[in-house]
Amino acid sequence: MNTRVRAIAVLAACALAAAACTPGGGGGDEEGGELTWAIGGAEANPGGVHHSVADLWNEQNPDTPISIETLPEPADEQREQQALELNAGASGFDVLGMDVIWTGEYSENGWLESLEDVRSELEAASIPAAFESATWGGELWAAPYNSNAGFLYYRTDLVDSPPTTWEELREVGLAAAEEAGIAPFVGQGARYEGFVVNWLEYYWSAGGELYNEDQTEVVFDPELAEQATEFMRTSIEEGFYAPGFNTAQEEEARNEFQSGNTVFMRNWPYAYSLIQEDEESPVSEDFDVAPLPTFTGEGTISALGGFNNAVSAFSDNTEAAKEFVVWAATNEEAQTMLAEGSVPPTMQAVYDDLQDDPVMALLGEILPDARPRPPAPQWNEISVEMQRALFPAYNGEAPVDPAVVEVQSFLEGTVE
Ligand code: GLC
Repeated sequence: MNTRVRAIAVLAACALAAAACTPGGGGGDEEGGELTWAIGGAEANPGGVHHSVADLWNEQNPDTPISIETLPEPADEQREQQALELNAGASGFDVLGMDVIWTGEYSENGWLESLEDVRSELEAASIPAAFESATWGGELWAAPYNSNAGFLYYRTDLVDSPPTTWEELREVGLAAAEEAGIAPFVGQGARYEGFVVNWLEYYWSAGGELYNEDQTEVVFDPELAEQATEFMRTSIEEGFYAPGFNTAQEEEARNEFQSGNTVFMRNWPYAYSLIQEDEESPVSEDFDVAPLPTFTGEGTISALGGFNNAVSAFSDNTEAAKEFVVWAATNEEAQTMLAEGSVPPTMQAVYDDLQDDPVMALLGEILPDARPRPPAPQWNEISVEMQRALFPAYNGEAPVDPAVVEVQSFLEGTVE
């Protein structure tokens, strides 16, 4: 659906059922009024940590309570739902749980309220990478909320120490899996944003980059891109990737590992507390987390992920929405709730306080060097093109060389 058709469809739906488009009832800019927070992912499901944060706000702010509009789990689908609403100029979402990769696009589209007037407070409280991800064109468009970085999960009963190169990981994984009668590795291999993240972690850890620092030049390296794609292709062929890898998103991967079906998993930190607290999981006491491997064995590379909270330019209650996003970034109790659910917070003080927590300690090691995906307004198109070209190539359904060249030419087209 193109933008215009979408907008008309949404307006028509609103005319038919006005309430559906203003879930909170809309508050107007007068005092009070309910807020709606559109956010997705496993953490937004009932019982998830975002609900605890919302409950805390509601206790403290009974005049402007917030309720969660749960978006789908895949990032791409969250973006679609938000874009549908925002393209139509509709006021159903006051607060947008915005993936770090959408800041450029949303702000250029005029969908967000600027947060420049609360910049210093947010900058002082937040870890630098998360703060940076909420800016575009030198302006602040969202309040940092939760950060993210990829972890290597491994079975402590099957592996002595976590491998530091991808090749070694494959060897160790294949051997340990054979002995235990399970699969070696699961990650995010389905055709969506998560696959692009997994692919980039291979590519970056081989030494590759997409753009130069100010994004005026493409510095894509086809050979390293081939190396990354070939590694994934061979991993399917050799049975290193668990069956179903190419349809797995975060939750499918977690379920496999949590059920004891794989030796290793690439996933975000949120999975840690869910696995640990699952009394029925055969691995809840037999797993640990480590930095992701690289091709060289040096250091670690992880994609920077996370969600910032933006205020919709179409909200009827922007003042209260702004108060909420600033509070969620700077309230230590709320930010600590995230950490307790092993969802990485963005508030520096929480990292300082929880240095003994294993997840927070590992994040402290990894996050400062986590790589942002280019925050370009056209990131979604770039990602979709990478999915289109690289997914069939790693699945053995198309040759690798031309796929890599296609990605390169697409990237070149974005800087012309
Ligand atoms: C996580 C990350 C987000 C990323 C997504 C990909 O939710 O926080 O940044 O885009 O995974 O699946």
